[in-house]
Amino acid sequence: MNSNKGSETTAWIGRVPLHGDLILAPMAGYSDLPFRVICRELGSAASIIPCILDDGLLYDSKRTDELLRAAPEERPLAIQVLSKDEGRLRRAAQKLIALQPDWVDFNLGCPAKHIAGRGRGAALLCQPPLLEALARCLVSELPCPVTAKIRLGWDESNRNYREVALRLQDAGVSALAVHGRTAKQGYSGAADWNAIAEIREMLSIPVLANGDVREPADIEAIKKVTGCDIVLIGRGAIGNPWLFSRLESGTIPWQTRIAMIQRHLLLMTEHYGVKNGVRLFRKHLIHYVQGFHGAGALRPQLVAAETPDQVMDVLYAWQMR
Ligand SMILES: Cc1cc2nc3c(=O)[nH]c(=O)nc-3n(C[C@H](O)[C@H](O)[C@H](O)COP(=O)(O)O)c2cc1C
Repeated sequence: MNSNKGSETTAWIGRVPLHGDLILAPMAGYSDLPFRVICRELGSAASIIPCILDDGLLYDSKRTDELLRAAPEERPLAIQVLSKDEGRLRRAAQKLIALQPDWVDFNLGCPAKHIAGRGRGAALLCQPPLLEALARCLVSELPCPVTAKIRLGWDESNRNYREVALRLQDAGVSALAVHGRTAKQGYSGAADWNAIAEIREMLSIPVLANGDVREPADIEAIKKVTGCDIVLIGRGAIGNPWLFSRLESGTIPWQTRIAMIQRHLLLMTEHYGVKNGVRLFRKHLIHYVQGFHGAGALRPQLVAAETPDQVMDVLYAWQMR
């Protein structure tokens, strides 16, 4: 399934080999099973299930069960966790073991209010000793490798990525993913690839570079600037999973795009049921057609479509014009 299988080992996450240099970044609400499977087929070298709360694992929430669903062909498969409490994390680790991920990623970069506002995700960047203790706890409890994903710090005056990176390496994480922005920046400004290069220079574990890769040329550029062998791609892959095959989005023929929409929509309806599948697919759909002549006028019709057939009818009618 993964077009990279059989190819050379590019890097190791602990004892887990990676075949390929690109991985779909964890994106809550986007990098679900259907989208991860599609990106894997086109070249993403691993799957990361995003944003699982320790509480969700501990209280067996139905929502968490749905988020944790993965396809057999998604291995290597990682699960990303959020926690701010060692006791809870220790107990959540036991639940994670039962799920048998290839590795567990510790989320230290989420700036969203409902996460960071409650002391988790990027808020932990403000508490390096606690963040280190939590990472140590995961490393000691889990039999699989542990990785972490950080931003450069909380804000411009607290870019403490050097201290955080060293503490995480000391804690025993097997790799570190770095999104080159502060939490306060959100997604504004440009990702600071030079800061990622600095971290890469400092550490002996693999560093995964992340931020602002939108076209194939950006892949080579970020690798060159940062010196990293592995790149995480987030927003650039939405509506454009061909980026994992290093194809320019403008070169994808409309027929190929339609076929991908149909397949992605089918996977969504299989995963979520027809009603929710179509509803949740809309945010992908808008990106698939973005930039095409007349896409603005098409949007209200696409958003109004309630069944897969209606979605495809709108697209075919548009193509016929
Ligand atoms: C909608 C959305 C959801 C995200 N959810 C997560 C998440 O659950 N965990 C995480 O570590 N990062 C999350 N991120 C951050 C991405 O993984 C990535 O670090 C960021 O988008 C920068 O990379 P990009 O420029 O390639 O998009 C999210 C980003 C977006 C846009």
